[in-house]
Amino acid sequence: MSNKIQIAPSILAADFTCLGDQIREAEAAGADQIHIDVMDGRFAPNITMGPLVIEAVRRVTALPLDVHLMMVEPDHMLSTFAQSGANTLGVHYEACLNLHRTLQTIRQLGCKPEVVLNPGTPASVLSEVLHLVDAVLVMTVNPGFGGQAFLPETMRKVTQLREMAKAIGREMDIEVDGGVNVDTAATCVAAGATILVAGSAVFSSKYSVQAGMDKLRAVIESKKPV
Ligand code: DX5
Ligand code: ZN
Repeated sequence: MSNKIQIAPSILAADFTCLGDQIREAEAAGADQIHIDVMDGRFAPNITMGPLVIEAVRRVTALPLDVHLMMVEPDHMLSTFAQSGANTLGVHYEACLNLHRTLQTIRQLGCKPEVVLNPGTPASVLSEVLHLVDAVLVMTVNPGFGGQAFLPETMRKVTQLREMAKAIGREMDIEVDGGVNVDTAATCVAAGATILVAGSAVFSSKYSVQAGMDKLRAVIESKKPV
């Protein structure tokens, strides 16, 4: 876990006709990680990117790749995602039959294990696996699409997870994903989030990637708790 609040642009909102350029722009604008949303059409009501796209992204950036697996029973594909260049593999609590084993496998594959919670899932379900993860991702929208409205009720869960991690003496990143923009980023940081995923707030047709990143960074820096 770094002391800096990190921004992880989600390429779900990028222009796919020039994905390489969009990622290079994000990196040049100070992105800390690149967030890649994998959806299987079953766990999430959408189909997006898979290992081939991750491999392509790996070739254009040195930034860590934060791969968010919105798929049922991801176990049989973990090694494929690790080989494609993922640094963090995030699996949903709701999608794993043997979560403890899945998180161990991710670590064995050389990736950072991360567990993800949907808005309807309480923090308490993670009490027996928190020691296995490097990060918890709190979904601040329901999975499936970019550009949805931020759910403020999820902030309580961010704070609870920060307290749960402290209680077991573990530093870990808490990541928020969905509807994070200039109006909501400060609330996330104040609640205890350390990684902010942002799709449509960074990749917009209305302003440049640099401008989107600058606006987010300014809000984060001005509201960072001491
Ligand atoms: C939603 C995805 C998010 C999405 C966020 O299921 O997990 O990563 O790209 O997009 P914005 O920031 O536009 O809400
Ligand atoms: Zn995501």
